[in-house]
Amino acid sequence: MSSSGVKIVELVPGEKSAMRLLRYAIEPIERGAIADGNVEQPEQVADALNRALRRMGSRTRDAALAMPASAVITKRITLPAGLSEEDYEFQVESEASQYIPFAIEEVNLDFQILGVAASEEDEVDVLLAASRKEKVEDRVAIAEMCGLKPMVMDVDTYAARQALDRVAGMLPNQGQGLVIAVFDIGSVVTNVSVVLNGQTVFEREQAFGGQHLTQDLVRLYGLTPEEAELKKRVGDLPESFQTDVLQPFVEQGASDVMRALQFFFTSTPYARVDRIYLAGGSSVVPGLVEAIADRTQVPTELLSPFQGMEIADTVREKQLRLDAPALVTACGLAMRRFDA
Ligand SMILES: Nc1ncnc2c1ncn2[C@@H]1O[C@H](COP(=O)(O)OP(=O)(O)OP(=O)(O)O)[C@@H](O)[C@H]1O
Ligand SMILES: [Mg+2]
Repeated sequence: MSSSGVKIVELVPGEKSAMRLLRYAIEPIERGAIADGNVEQPEQVADALNRALRRMGSRTRDAALAMPASAVITKRITLPAGLSEEDYEFQVESEASQYIPFAIEEVNLDFQILGVAASEEDEVDVLLAASRKEKVEDRVAIAEMCGLKPMVMDVDTYAARQALDRVAGMLPNQGQGLVIAVFDIGSVVTNVSVVLNGQTVFEREQAFGGQHLTQDLVRLYGLTPEEAELKKRVGDLPESFQTDVLQPFVEQGASDVMRALQFFFTSTPYARVDRIYLAGGSSVVPGLVEAIADRTQVPTELLSPFQGMEIADTVREKQLRLDAPALVTACGLAMRRFDA
């Protein structure tokens, strides 16, 4: 559930490869129903989810959902190795209370042991994650209202990383040593992250997204936002659209990407990016990949989280090509089913 809509991905084991995309659905929600990651109009979101589920026609009820990263406090801590589950819980809770600006009763707290700490052999690195109970409940309630059974609550950026890591693992040498930048261009924001050897080395959020394009269409051609959204996607627009709206948008996008890279170079020890992946619904705007590749001189392509998976016959490949970059997080969530 994100600001532009509800997205569902259903994966099953493949015949020749590990996973097969069985079905997916994207259902838009009205602007403002989810704003800044907060569910403002739960009924609207539930309606969209119900429509999406009906279109999917799936009998699967178990679901993995994600919280927006902005609503989750995460922290890496170090704890003694070899404690009991109960002791870890206790330790995590007392550590967490130092970082969380709410009463511990008001948050959902979880943790994962990452492995032996680099500094001390008898210590382990632990990732803790905490989110306001009411925020978690908002999403759980919507899923349950629609007959789903929430089994997993992830963090959206972590889920997206799962999907990216799988794709990067198919690069030469499993992508080791490559500095990979991902630009997730959504409806109101672009999330930038740079990954090297499975570690996130840079993260940033920029105010750029397809909503600008939709608003321009509304303003210039007197369309309703719904009409503008639809016409934007199917490309049914007057010729002046190309020069007056699309080109400036693409230029702006390429400039913003360049600016983010420059900021990355000046604020980290890294001096190069080897590859750019574009994700998010607005990454498929015509000309954007080419403009970014041209401006940055870095090989740039759309990120399809389903690369290397089998695709069910019922999925329309042409539509999937346009939708796939928007499904990175949802795909990463569905991949949780395949966790060992
Ligand atoms: N085929 C398409 N052509 C152009 N734009 C598209 C297409 N499909 C989706 N979009 C645009 O992508 C945007 C939605 O992308 P996405 O689903 O990644 O956003 P989001 O994650 O909900 O939003 P945000 O990250 O800003 O909170 C919308 O602005 C939508 O108009
Ligand atoms: Mg997004």
